[in-house]
Amino acid sequence: MDIVTSVTALRERLQREPNNVFVPTMGNLHEGHINLIGIAKPKAACTVVSIFVNRLQFGPKEDFERYPRTFRNDCDKLRSAGVDVVFAPDEKEIYPEPQTFVVEPSDLQHILDGAFRPGHFRGVATVVLKLFNMVMPHAAIFGKKDYQQYLVLRDMVRQLALPVEIIPAETVRAADGLALSSRNGYLSPAERAEAPRLYSLLTDAKQRLAKGERNFQRIELEAMSQLAQHGWAPQYLSVRRRADLQVPAPEERELVVLAAAYLGKTRLIDNIEVTL
Ligand code: PAJ
Repeated sequence: MDIVTSVTALRERLQREPNNVFVPTMGNLHEGHINLIGIAKPKAACTVVSIFVNRLQFGPKEDFERYPRTFRNDCDKLRSAGVDVVFAPDEKEIYPEPQTFVVEPSDLQHILDGAFRPGHFRGVATVVLKLFNMVMPHAAIFGKKDYQQYLVLRDMVRQLALPVEIIPAETVRAADGLALSSRNGYLSPAERAEAPRLYSLLTDAKQRLAKGERNFQRIELEAMSQLAQHGWAPQYLSVRRRADLQVPAPEERELVVLAAAYLGKTRLIDNIEVTL
């Protein structure tokens, strides 16, 4: 496994590779990330993983500074997973000058997570486009854990005609249902015990939809009030149309229920797809 930190070294290393599949990450790797590599490997002559905590996608009051950085441990995991190239640039390499050109994901960036994290998806789209231009992959893998992020990037690639195939991957969960996330490490033991409720309420919502309930608002409000009763501060729990995350018509059959809520100081997100 080669570890490169500059764009020049990356380009040199990848020059002779006919088929790169790319997994962008912010490090602090867990089984969710490793699963993406498992999907990439059979499709790739060369599997490239980036580790870069992207300041541009964090709000001023968010956890950029305390985001866990575990580079050596991450490299051990990537080596065991059979990764070929790790790209681990520092900030100056990615942002040598202020980033005045950005990618604006118009509609999607203002709803759901975008409404609570202004500028977040602009930061994500901008860094991912930039990383794509550095790695020049044939395909890139993104987890559905970050469902809105996956849709933003899928639409970016389509609308800007980027020659990259976007491959979605299912969410990897702990045995009790909690979606794996680097932010789970912030949870106290008591919060960790409470955390699976988010997925369990999404599962309940899915069952109600599958049984034919069409009052989306009632499903949403009841689940949010369950969260609040158990000490959470929910931001949204919302039944949406899967294609574009807009509010669905009652006859819509391809749905996704998405949620974001604070448990103590930790913001957790999750979602579940529903096909009727
Ligand atoms: P990060 O949170 O490190 O996630 C990297 C990739 O792993 C994303 O595609 C994310 O959806 C996926 N992932 C995280 N947890 C997962 C889980 N439990 N199951 C399946 N996939 C999971 O997402 C980012 O970094 C950044 O926004 C990035 C795309 C790298 C741009 O900075």
